[in-house]
Amino acid sequence: MSLSQALSLHRNYFGVEPKTAVFAPGRINLIGEHTDYNGGFVMPCAIDLGIWVVGRIVDGESRLMSDSAGPGKPFDTTNTDRKPNGWSKYPAGMAWALSDPFGPMPNIEATVVSNLPMGSGVSSSAAMELAFGKLFQALVGFEADARQLALLGQKCENQYVGVNCGIMDQMASACGKKNNAICLDTRSLEIEYAPVDPSLAVVLLDTKKPRALTDSAYNERRSQCEAAASAMGVPQLRDADLEMLLSQKAKLDEVVFRRARHVVTEDARSTAFKVALAESDRNGIFALMKGSHDSLRDDYEVSCPELDAMAESAWLAPGIFGARMTGAGFGGACVALVERTREEAFTEAVLMSYAKATGREGEAIVCSIDDGARILQS
Ligand code: GLA
Repeated sequence: MSLSQALSLHRNYFGVEPKTAVFAPGRINLIGEHTDYNGGFVMPCAIDLGIWVVGRIVDGESRLMSDSAGPGKPFDTTNTDRKPNGWSKYPAGMAWALSDPFGPMPNIEATVVSNLPMGSGVSSSAAMELAFGKLFQALVGFEADARQLALLGQKCENQYVGVNCGIMDQMASACGKKNNAICLDTRSLEIEYAPVDPSLAVVLLDTKKPRALTDSAYNERRSQCEAAASAMGVPQLRDADLEMLLSQKAKLDEVVFRRARHVVTEDARSTAFKVALAESDRNGIFALMKGSHDSLRDDYEVSCPELDAMAESAWLAPGIFGARMTGAGFGGACVALVERTREEAFTEAVLMSYAKATGREGEAIVCSIDDGARILQS
């Protein structure tokens, strides 16, 4: 999938040349899971898989085409009360979110092509939001920085699409930097870029287990975190640590205590991981990523047998530096850091062991760490 495919699909379907082309990447999160809605620390990377959109301004309704999903439901940016169903809600929602700071957005004709594996937890929805944010920016010419577009993408997702996500995915798609992980403080939105040792490969290990019940379980975890913070008298779990949590254990329900223990220990692991990555400290990276997976499985309870089997297979495979589940959980993918010279032996061993444990065929994709959402042609 690529820009040339988006251009030719657009010409075939709409019969005209588009004016503008953009790309927005998906993300893979190295560490810091389920901490972003607690004001904590995350460390995602934008990857070289993502979404291309080409398009132009038109009179009349907005019309869309996608390589994988087919034609989108038409919508009208001048009547934002009428929400389209299906995947058109992302472009329509971005037009709605952008209209607040920048005035009404024009109607468009646009074509979407994606090579992001669906349902693998690599943020295709954030990539859609950032891609359309960039497309409207290129077509209309308003000034907005990456952070502002990320926040508007999150507003689209929370208030228009109706999914209560944190800010990690949109910030990763907007602010990615080639060969760097993004150390993001999700409260201040400050970023520090952390170069990833070029001798390490980032491997996406897709379980091919579709994610289930993610929204309801995600919202339940969010409320449990809020309950823990309020019982401890802190604004967010970011403001607590393990010592404080243990000293207040009696005030918390057993499940709420374990949820909070995941979040406060994950924040500590993310901070330590930044140092371990900078020093290419193999034992440190391994222990912190494994610690994150164990905590997501036991305390946060968002893993599943397939994610556990994939992580366990990766921990034993040649060339491994570290591996864990990545994204919201309940299916999707693991991320692994692997010696580049051994990536083939690694993926072969992992997929064989995963198939033996689960009877499923997984998929391994070696990703490059890429730049954030960008205009390719305007
Ligand atoms: C999803 C959400 C993010 C984040 C992760 C879990 O990807 O969109 O905001 O909460 O889950 O870390």
